[in-house]
Amino acid sequence: MSRIARIAAQEILDSRGNPTVRVHLELESGARVSASVPSGASTGENEAVELRDGDASRYGGKGVRKAVANVTEVIAPELVGLDPARQAEIDQIMIDLDGTPDKARLGANAILGVSMAVARAAAADAGLPLYAYLGGPGATRLPVPMMNVMNGGKHADNSVDFQEFMIMPLGAPSFAEALRYGAETFHALAGILKKKGYATAVGDEGGFAPSLKSNEEACDLIVAAIQAAGYAPGKDVALALDPAASSFFAGGRYRLTKSGQGEKSADEMIALYAKWLDAFPIVSLEDGLDENDWAGFARQTATQGRRIQIVGDDIFVTNPAFVRRGIAESTANAVLIKLNQIGTVTETIRTIDLCRAAGWGFVISHRSGETEDAFMADFAVAMGGGQIKTGSLCRSERIAKYNRLLEIEAALGRSARFETPFS
Ligand code: PGA
Ligand code: ZN
Repeated sequence: MSRIARIAAQEILDSRGNPTVRVHLELESGARVSASVPSGASTGENEAVELRDGDASRYGGKGVRKAVANVTEVIAPELVGLDPARQAEIDQIMIDLDGTPDKARLGANAILGVSMAVARAAAADAGLPLYAYLGGPGATRLPVPMMNVMNGGKHADNSVDFQEFMIMPLGAPSFAEALRYGAETFHALAGILKKKGYATAVGDEGGFAPSLKSNEEACDLIVAAIQAAGYAPGKDVALALDPAASSFFAGGRYRLTKSGQGEKSADEMIALYAKWLDAFPIVSLEDGLDENDWAGFARQTATQGRRIQIVGDDIFVTNPAFVRRGIAESTANAVLIKLNQIGTVTETIRTIDLCRAAGWGFVISHRSGETEDAFMADFAVAMGGGQIKTGSLCRSERIAKYNRLLEIEAALGRSARFETPFS
């Protein structure tokens, strides 16, 4: 066992050109690792705090020098000399050092960067790849990707209200084949958009972001692309949606203003989704309603939860306390898992354990602002839930995760498993 010798941090840029935190950690053995923290745009109200400098003279106030200083000046002195394998203890030390319920003092960006680097260091020290270190010898299941091929909402400047239109290659025999199904469908979609005179520029997560006539048209175009690529919609490649409804909810109404499709109540939104479920091969729906509408979520789950996966993102913010309430109230049947919503590896795993115990699904997710760090790819295999959401089939910060999953699948060889999370 080798102890933590040094922890450093620096301000780097994410995929949107905004500052974020990278942590460098060195063990006494000389092993060096680093980890970079992602950043969201359609963030949940109850997420752990991403500490920004607020100094308008740098990066419009978005600098992270304070978070970097918190790593080097406050956190590092407490962790030097500790065994990196004691992840839970180290994460608790940082939670206690911070002392707030939402990591507002040190910043979840500071704490998570260290937490991820500690996991990597422990894996390196054990001579194991990260997925095997965190997941043990049973970590052989590759996740089915939710690939975000059409972007709207806060992730694109277009006429689409819903944030994410994703494809899930459920019928593929392996992760590598799933990636091929997805990439071929993505390219077929580009061809269809071009033919119709739509723009093929992409949004924050690499999906196309044309100005369409309606939200529905995005689904129509994707189904056409699946067929054009030679796949059977629903069987080979299904659809998954993340409207991110909190981002267009205001004054008690869902306002479909980008597309000019009017305003709706929660029950009208649920009715709209019911219509969509009949019209399109949708298998998963995330954040169909506002993050504070627990009753609406439960009504939707009661009526549609046997047919599709109902995923809570902004409503649960990867927080064990909110997920516990959700399980008690049958608010959903799956949770979107984002490490930086809660801020430590240990708490994230605690949330996943709750999902497993309740028989709920869980989806390991990127943020719309990402880096080339592929920690979450290893994390998805380690947790074994069989689902990952990490963007489209372009933009290297998204592809880095897919390429890492290809490597893991190849390394696992014949023991690698790939199966649908939906029976
Ligand atoms: P965000 O979006 O990273 O901008 O929050 C991702 C999501 O809503 O799932
Ligand atoms: Zn979401």
